[in-house]
Amino acid sequence: MRALIVDQEVPGRLRPGDAPDPEPGPGQVLVEVRHTSLNAAELYFAEHGAPGQVIGFDSAGVVVRAAANGAGPEAGSRVVGFGEGGGFAALRALDVADLAVVPDGVDLGEAATLPVAAGTALRALEQAGPLLGRRVLVTGASGGVGGFAVQLAALGGAYVIGVAGSADGRRWVGELGADEVVAGPQEVTDPVDIVIDNVGGTQLVAAYRLLTSGGNLQSVGWASGGDAVLPVGSTLGSPAPRSVVSVYNGGGLTDRRAQLDRLLALVAAGKLRVPVGWRGPWDKVADAVAALSERRLWGKAVLDVG
Ligand SMILES: NC(=O)c1ccc[n+]([C@@H]2O[C@H](COP(=O)([O-])OP(=O)(O)OC[C@H]3O[C@@H](n4cnc5c(N)ncnc54)[C@H](OP(=O)(O)O)[C@@H]3O)[C@@H](O)[C@H]2O)c1
Repeated sequence: MRALIVDQEVPGRLRPGDAPDPEPGPGQVLVEVRHTSLNAAELYFAEHGAPGQVIGFDSAGVVVRAAANGAGPEAGSRVVGFGEGGGFAALRALDVADLAVVPDGVDLGEAATLPVAAGTALRALEQAGPLLGRRVLVTGASGGVGGFAVQLAALGGAYVIGVAGSADGRRWVGELGADEVVAGPQEVTDPVDIVIDNVGGTQLVAAYRLLTSGGNLQSVGWASGGDAVLPVGSTLGSPAPRSVVSVYNGGGLTDRRAQLDRLLALVAAGKLRVPVGWRGPWDKVADAVAALSERRLWGKAVLDVG
């Protein structure tokens, strides 16, 4: 089959090539993949993967062979799913528990952005607790997870403050529905109840210090690559505990289908916009990688397979 394979010698470290067809297990469907999306972690896996390896988490396409055990969607169904690798390929074996049927009217390319980025945003916000009337700060709000987190927090009734590094990024985040957009957490003066932190480093420290008594910071990612050094005493002095909580939306979760169903229903209803900042054929993957790594990509990159 055709695939985007790891090649450290080319720009973007991914290029179209050939790879063995997947062999679905009894609880897996075989999907003809039409679209995938690029996530920050895939830049790492492209850099550190074996030459010829097929990486990729997200894919959307059409089932060409139903699962042998009779579970899941039938052949011909439009689906989106998650897996640990194998997503950047024309064919993919997907566990029926890790996919959902895409409703009519939802673009398959847009659906391909949901498993990692939107799923992580939803998980982080649910871990954070009730949102109605809460002040939520989202760092890395111009990115993939951030773009969904801003919208989902607003949908939940929160007052949303987005952080974006550039003026264009701030405009983008404002258009997604943030109540306030700032260049850094240090610009925020009033306390916040919840932080969805995609950036780590100094932004994590500044955001943690904004937490109100009982507030929590959901640690999604460390896009900054920097250490977070808390000043002496900064974790003390709150009547109710303030917490830093890890967020995990990788493999082995049992609620993936339910998570995808909820996100797809929101997209189908026009309540959740899929923030696509780059879309093109997968042989242009180097352009998408450059935009993502140079912080020129707002929202998600969709790669059309073919
Ligand atoms: N825990 C999990 O299960 C999970 C799941 C998905 C993703 N993640 C992690 O969460 C983070 C966000 O993911 P994503 O897909 O939203 O990534 P992304 O699209 O690259 O967005 C990250 C955002 O962080 C901001 N940023 C600030 N400082 C940065 C720096 N030095 N380098 C790069 N970006 C910087 C950028 O916004 P500005 O340029 O506007 O500042 C960028 O838009 C990543 O670290 C990713 O690996 C974790």
